[in-house]
Formats: sequence, C-alpha cells, structure tokens
Amino acid sequence: AATAPWRAAGERIGFVPTMGNLHAGHLALIAEARRRAPRSIASVFVNPLQFGPNEDFGRYPRTLPQDAAQLEAAGVDLLFAPAVDAVYVNGYPPMTTVSPGALGDMLEGEFRPGFFTGVATVVNILFQLVRPDLAVFGEKDYQQLQVIRRMVSDLHLPVDIVGLRTERAADGLALSSRNQYLDAAQRATAPQLHAELRRIAEALCAGRRDFELMCAEGLQALQKAGFRPQYLVVRELDLAMPRAQSDRFVVLVAAWLGATRLIDNLRTDGAVDQF
Ligand code: PAF
Repeated sequence: AATAPWRAAGERIGFVPTMGNLHAGHLALIAEARRRAPRSIASVFVNPLQFGPNEDFGRYPRTLPQDAAQLEAAGVDLLFAPAVDAVYVNGYPPMTTVSPGALGDMLEGEFRPGFFTGVATVVNILFQLVRPDLAVFGEKDYQQLQVIRRMVSDLHLPVDIVGLRTERAADGLALSSRNQYLDAAQRATAPQLHAELRRIAEALCAGRRDFELMCAEGLQALQKAGFRPQYLVVRELDLAMPRAQSDRFVVLVAAWLGATRLIDNLRTDGAVDQF
C-alpha cells in the first residue's frame, strides 16, 4: 500500500535488505540505492533460516530503534521490519526454499551448510514482498552477491542487482556487525586479515600464479597472528578455480578470531582495487 503511489507515478524503488545493527557499510548501500532510484526501502530482518544450529542467531545484535533512526537520517523512504511469521507465512521453517546449488556449497557453504539456501530463500521472499526495481548488496559478502545474482538470473526476477565495494575502517578491517564481538586485543589483530589479502592480491598483480603456495603461506601467517583460518583461496571473479592466464581474481578468506568468525575478500583488476 505504501509503495502503490510511487509505482503509479513510475518512480523506481531501490532496496537494501539488511539484518539490522547498521553501520557505515550499510549506510553506503543506502546512499547508493538513493543515488540510483528516487524511492528507497530498507529491510531489517534477522533471518533464522541462514543461521546454523550452533551459530549466533540468539546473540546477533538487534538494535531496531537505533536502526530506524539511522535510516530516517539517511533519507530512506520506508523501513520494512517484518516479524518471522510475516516472512514465513505458513510456519517456520518454510517448506519451499531456494537452493543455489554448487555455488552455494563451496567456500562459505562448506563451513556453513544451508547458509546460502537461507539467504537465497529470504532474499527471494523479500523481493516478492517489496518488489524493488534494484537492490544493493555489499561486496564484503562476495559469495552472497554471486549467489543472489545467479538466483535473479535463474529465476528471471525483475530486479537489477548492484554490488558495492567494501567499506573499511582506517586500518583496513572490513566493517561488519560481528566486529563488535571482538575484544580490544582481537580488534588490534583483526586488520591482519585484510593485510594478508592485500599481500596476495599484490603478488597476483606482480605476476605470481602459484596459487596454492601463496595461499598456504597466507594461512600460515594468519595462524601465526592468532587466527584459526577456515579457507584462504584465489578464485576467478565468478568463483571458478583460478587459471594462470587470467589477470582478474578475487582472494577470499574466512577465519575465526577467538569466538568471532570474520570473512573478507579483495578483488584484483590488474591492480589491487581497494586499499
Ligand atoms: O547480508 C545480509 O545482511 C543478509 O545475508 C541478507 C542479505 C540481508 C539476507 O538476510
């Protein structure tokens, strides 16, 4: 009902789905949506379907009043913050899900089984409810962005997907709601994740192509710094295995630091494209 007059006036709607606990990274997504469309909607929904049984669904930070204030200050037209039973109308868990197949089983999917089915299912439902013309996602969740692009293409969803580069703290740490789980010592260590990505990305730009050795060295360096890495890989931009003759790659990492799981990635486009 709220969007009907916008549609009637032919105004495009930009959408930013979030799980709330907004930070500068989310606000950059909002700014991009507003730049691209006259109307903007943000959703806040902590989606139970994308959390594993031993993950942080219960303690995931929920800050709706602060989120609403930030969204209003950022000029968002509408906040959509549905309850679980408004999203999963026939009961939870839903019977019908969207499975992203092999793209969702690798990397993050290997360590978080079912995660991308949860993400694809909820993003599809949110798209049906909000019916945006475009939606903006952060490249920080690089694999998620690929999964969503593929779902939109496979299912012919009429939504333009926009990826936005990762927002980082001054020391390089990618902004994430989970950073607040880090204590002071861990927060001081955390930027080494980005430093390691950068080291590998620069070596790729300089022509190194011994992918496995580069990543093995990186894993060792992360372990030495106190991380418990789960993967550190070089991939083609579409997440296929890297080929020596390519000159554009993405380096992806996931690592535990204490009880916090961090992910990050860096793309190379001939040169390292982020600081
Ligand atoms: O990236 C996120 O915050 C979530 O995975 C998303 C896209 C909002 C789906 O719940």
